Amino acid sequence: MDAPIVQASRLRKVYQGANAVEALRGIDFEVERGEMVAIVGPSGSGKTTLLNCLSGLDSFNGGQVVVDGQDLSTMSDRARTAYRRDHMGFVFQAFNLLPVLSAVENVEIPLLLQNLNSRDSRRRALEMLETLGLAHRANHRPDQLSGGEQQRVAVARALVHKPAVVWADEPTGNLDTEVTQVIVELLVRMNKDGQTIVLVTHNPQVAERARRTVRMRDGRIEKAEAGRVEVSA
Ligand SMILES: Nc1ncnc2c1ncn2[C@@H]1O[C@H](COP(=O)(O)OP(=O)(O)OP(=O)(O)O)[C@@H](O)[C@H]1O
Ligand SMILES: [Mg+2]
Repeated sequence: MDAPIVQASRLRKVYQGANAVEALRGIDFEVERGEMVAIVGPSGSGKTTLLNCLSGLDSFNGGQVVVDGQDLSTMSDRARTAYRRDHMGFVFQAFNLLPVLSAVENVEIPLLLQNLNSRDSRRRALEMLETLGLAHRANHRPDQLSGGEQQRVAVARALVHKPAVVWADEPTGNLDTEVTQVIVELLVRMNKDGQTIVLVTHNPQVAERARRTVRMRDGRIEKAEAGRVEVSA
């Protein structure tokens, strides 16, 4: 069998400062290739910190993180940035689309950053938007799109360069129930097509659709369980 695509061991993260916070207190966590994992737990338990450390968005203070065979612990900041750009996809609660760019221009950013030529970048971005049912909104700017449409554009941007892992932090946090459903089913569909997805959520209906749920508390993983979960905020 393949090695897990994400392997973290004894991962520690301390936010330094007047009031230092030990946000991750020795995390062991693995994600299999093709899995969809939900991370749940109370506010402040370290979910975002864990996602940021595993995905190369943030550095950490101890332990090891290996993603798709690459050891993030030994990478320079610069190498980690390049790795993240080329091999990771991100979806955030606040969509984080660039306001002056159209939908298709937002989606093609990861491809252009990989130096794909502009014609192929445009073609693949349009194909991705079409897959997500948004071809008719390709030339709209984010302020001309609904919240759900903006998040679908963000999902398209996260997936377009076929990342090793898509990381989603509260991807439905700003969306109503109906639109949440659309986004979740989209992620489930992409996962069925083989995309590995790790998402953080407070929403039990969202967590339920993942194949596995991991619960955090006070910087530790409490327990791993399959199937249904109770989620407390
Ligand atoms: N930049 C920072 N500097 C100092 N402390 C931080 C920083 N970011 C987070 N923390 C602290 O680290 C802990 C974990 O925060 P984190 O954002 O990972 O929690 P979370 O589980 O994502 O919470 P939420 O569900 O509210 O998003 C919290 O106690 C928080 O106050
Ligand atoms: Mg968070």
